[in-house]
Amino acid sequence: MQLRIDKYLADMGIGTRSEVKQYIRKKQVQVNGVYPKGPEQKIVPNQDSITFQGKAISYIEMEYFMLNKPAGCVSATTDAKHKTVLDYIDTKKRKDLFPVGRLDIDTEGLLLITNDGALAHELLSPKKHVAKTYYAKVEGCVTSEDVVQFEKGVDIGEERLTLPAELKILKVSPEDISEIELTIMEGKFHQVKRMFEAVGKKVVYLKRISMGNLILDENLQPGEYRKLTAEEIEKIQMKR
Ligand code: URA
Repeated sequence: MQLRIDKYLADMGIGTRSEVKQYIRKKQVQVNGVYPKGPEQKIVPNQDSITFQGKAISYIEMEYFMLNKPAGCVSATTDAKHKTVLDYIDTKKRKDLFPVGRLDIDTEGLLLITNDGALAHELLSPKKHVAKTYYAKVEGCVTSEDVVQFEKGVDIGEERLTLPAELKILKVSPEDISEIELTIMEGKFHQVKRMFEAVGKKVVYLKRISMGNLILDENLQPGEYRKLTAEEIEKIQMKR
């Protein structure tokens, strides 16, 4: 792969394309120890050695982060009113990161943040039926009838019933707050909340704990994130 030197540096967050052009003009950039002829000069990432103000700048093509999304932020790349999930990733290099799918503003838990568009497409494609597991607290007593109903599919006002979903009842407390785990194979808008509404119950807390074979790291507190390990990247790629 060949890249223009100005794009290389802009991709790595050194500055905007026009700032980077200035740096090149001001001789703050070197390619293999030589000042580039201009911003259009082509280089080969991770083969040519690039420095900015004397510091080596290596190229990262893809980034993969796991965020434990906190409540109160939106699953978007920009927002005029709210903090976005990207605002939490303060060690990001790439400027083209985005969240893979959406969690509601009040939902917590696993969100994959990457710039790997092909992977995102595979994980989100309705045809691929990627499993997503949620932990929820639900007002009302979740029953074995609900388990059967969710397995059969419920009417949430779409053209078809929901696909078979696996509901596990973890706890039913005397105050009638049930704790459950629900695995769904699709990702309709507000799906978990609407499925419980369909059986007369209200979700009062929702957290995603897995997506495909990617599992939320229990050590991450809401708002914390980490890079995916090489093993996790390989495993989630295999889902393609
Ligand atoms: N289902 C919901 O209702 N909300 C989410 O954020 C995710 C799944």
